[in-house]
Amino acid sequence: MKNILFVTSEAVPFIKTGGLADVAGSLPKYFNKEFYDVRVILPKYECMKFKEHLEYISNFYMYHNGRDRYVGIFRTIYNGVTYYFIDNEEYFSGNSPYGDWFWDLEKFCFFCRAALSALPVIGFKPQIVHCHDWQTGLVPVLLKDSFKGGEFYWDMKSIMTIHNLKFQGVWSLPVIKQFTGLSDYYFTPDKIEAYGDGNLLKGGIVYADKITTVSSSYAEEIKTPFYGEKMDGLIRARENDLVGIVNGIDYTDFDPETDNRIPVTYNVENFRTNKKKNKTALQKELGLEVNDKKFMIGIVSRLTDQKGLDLIACVMEQLCWGDTQMVILGTGDSKYESMFRYYADKYPDKVSANIYYSEDLSHKIYAASDAFLMPSLFEPCGLSQLMSLRYGTVPIVRETGGLRDTVWPYNEYEQTGTGFSFANYNAHEMLGIVDYAKHIYFDKKRDWNMIAQRAMEVDFSWSSSARKYEQLYDSMLGY
Ligand code: ADP
Ligand code: GLC
Repeated sequence: MKNILFVTSEAVPFIKTGGLADVAGSLPKYFNKEFYDVRVILPKYECMKFKEHLEYISNFYMYHNGRDRYVGIFRTIYNGVTYYFIDNEEYFSGNSPYGDWFWDLEKFCFFCRAALSALPVIGFKPQIVHCHDWQTGLVPVLLKDSFKGGEFYWDMKSIMTIHNLKFQGVWSLPVIKQFTGLSDYYFTPDKIEAYGDGNLLKGGIVYADKITTVSSSYAEEIKTPFYGEKMDGLIRARENDLVGIVNGIDYTDFDPETDNRIPVTYNVENFRTNKKKNKTALQKELGLEVNDKKFMIGIVSRLTDQKGLDLIACVMEQLCWGDTQMVILGTGDSKYESMFRYYADKYPDKVSANIYYSEDLSHKIYAASDAFLMPSLFEPCGLSQLMSLRYGTVPIVRETGGLRDTVWPYNEYEQTGTGFSFANYNAHEMLGIVDYAKHIYFDKKRDWNMIAQRAMEVDFSWSSSARKYEQLYDSMLGY
């Protein structure tokens, strides 16, 4: 049996702010349980769901940032996967896992040290510790540092998975030194110093045995200055240990045939008649004009610059022209929240701006919309377009990162493709492709339906990507 531990700051169904939670909460389920015992450890947040299902295991005190601190350990088994939770009410209170940068740095440094320290207490000895994003970047460093000596840890290997290179966990050197408890030895530009600051993700990238990211295109892109977030040199230096493995989604949670969050379920045989019933139901629910002939564009997204929202802002007026409706669900930068609210106010029959977080509404949008717009500036993988494909909602995306790897552009002459895409980060190029999609929808309905059918038929479940992670684990363990 190969023991693997996922260390992560979020995982569905317990706590989610973005796609990382979907990945950390669904991928572990898809490993071959005969050979891989994959468990997950994350903080026990006050704001998480299912707290009442957790079972208390033990506690101990651990020195961190100037004093001994309480570390509680809880456990639960969900969908056959064991999840451990690190408890410390001082660090993990509040109504969101993240907030103040400075405080987040201290608390995730605590989490990394506590997660490793808890393992002998739990009695689980992973051969590979698989870390996700900057919040866990300290783990690979600790495994080569203070934890290396002990018999329990000496041969543990680590993987650093980059879900988003933009966020690195950076603060001044003295602060990062204090929070990590590492010696001066580590604070040089070849280790965890970057451009005069301390950088936790960099620590992970330098010290992990292998590095992965969540699509092959993003694995290439981050070797370049445009996408490399000032780490491209380091990524190039480690390119032999870097692999891009595209994300999947949980095909049981996201299944239009069984989804009890949507008004009318459907499948690839009957979507032509049943899918649009979800559209009229959503139009009614959101107060839009009820008419199943409208071209409904869905957006479910964090409202940040990453997601290409300035392109949408630039041509929002034109996007709304004709028989189009736009349904937005998301929270984030106030400039984008206000922009969507403004258009919802201006065109109440056409635009619905839902500026909050709702899993129920997200499923209804994936089911109801004809197209899904995701013109990201950069996109390590993206899960929303995979959810759209699964629901026969045709994605319109920019050709970057995982969007490029998972959406195949429609070719009118060969009748291939599962969506629409454009290359340059340019609002009018995006508008051109949206208008082209509308033309196919209104004037070539059969072709449109064939695109939707192909979208529903592609397979982005975890089955093939989980095998790739298994191969990576095997190669690291010498199998
Ligand atoms: P990222 O992780 O960069 O935000 P992804 O596409 O990988 O982007 O994952 C986003 C996930 O978060 C998807 O599951 C999407 O449905 C969900 N999501 C984003 N915003 C909301 C929201 N306001 N309400 C519900 N789900 C949301
Ligand atoms: C990040 C990325 C997104 C990716 C997700 C899960 O949040 O922004 O593209 O799908 O992580 O890997």
